[in-house]
Amino acid sequence: MDINNVKTLIWDRNSLKLIDQRELPFKQIYIETKNSNDVALAIKDMVVRGAPAIGVTAAYGVALAAINFKNGSISEFEKHIKDSIKVIASSRPTAVNLFWALERMKKTLEEKISKGEKSVQALKETLISEAEKIEKEDIEVNLKIGKNSLQIFDLVKKEKITILTHCNAGGLATAGYGTALGVIRSLNSAGFVKCVYVDETRPYLQGARLTAWELHQENIPYYVITDNMAGYFMKEGKIDIVVVGADRIAANGDTANKIGTYSLSVLAKHHNLLFFIAAPFSTIDFNTRDGLNIIIEQRPAQEVRKVLGVQIIPEYMPVLNPSFDITPSENISGIITEKGLIYPPFNENLYKFLKL
Ligand code: MRU
Repeated sequence: MDINNVKTLIWDRNSLKLIDQRELPFKQIYIETKNSNDVALAIKDMVVRGAPAIGVTAAYGVALAAINFKNGSISEFEKHIKDSIKVIASSRPTAVNLFWALERMKKTLEEKISKGEKSVQALKETLISEAEKIEKEDIEVNLKIGKNSLQIFDLVKKEKITILTHCNAGGLATAGYGTALGVIRSLNSAGFVKCVYVDETRPYLQGARLTAWELHQENIPYYVITDNMAGYFMKEGKIDIVVVGADRIAANGDTANKIGTYSLSVLAKHHNLLFFIAAPFSTIDFNTRDGLNIIIEQRPAQEVRKVLGVQIIPEYMPVLNPSFDITPSENISGIITEKGLIYPPFNENLYKFLKL
């Protein structure tokens, strides 16, 4: 299956090449990362972004750390890997997939050592194949999310629907296919999509630059709208459902996603529209009770002062730039995961699906 026209990341067991998402859609340039520091910087600077893509990249960052270890004992290797994990973990705070992937890599290493592995080379191989597994699984999970989203159609009594989405939860935000955009791809393949309204997603323009670009390549009809137009189009009856991705879902269903998602959820509720989150189960953080306990990343003021490198307000103007907000669980109609479409009450149902 053609997952994406363009690959988000290219791994060749020597380096990890990342498409520079800061340059899209105008330029398609790959940046080569050769060690865990390069990987941490690429995540921090948003060469690569989107929760699942960050997770996969982080796992490869650990694999690169393993490859770069030269001579030493098992315990020196373990320390080297754990130090690299700390560096990668410090890159961005909100997307739980980063910490999920790093934890999985750490556990894999610890298990192998505790079972008596004495060869550093064998440990390197184990970490490399675990990262490759994480990438492969991400695509499989996204395809299942897409499949599970077909149930939405039974909830909307229309032949074709219009969908509003925010930010980019597409192939570029994952190893391929996407979560929210994967849902759109699946619904479109089934013939259910009339049109997609794409929020431009200030300040970083992930909607306008990345989501619209992916939809364009897929020949899915879309309009780019500015973020403040969403209410207008909902009131006009132009939107049937909202589908967005997630960076972290707390155990009660409260969801962190790109700044502006909360406002959309309030608007959707006011207009009686279905509001869905699409995310892999690994985005659910059962260690975080509710949205109040999710750390919201504050990004540099320059991202607001400038648009695509062009200064739009003077330097002396103070700026705030929270990168995410929390959508309360009561504003969410359903969470589409690879295990199925989960309905409220999320504080009960997320645990039920965990056991599946
Ligand atoms: O700051 P970003 O671009 O990394 O934020 C991305 C989002 O908010 C996405 O919606 C989320 O990570 C899900 S991506 C499948």
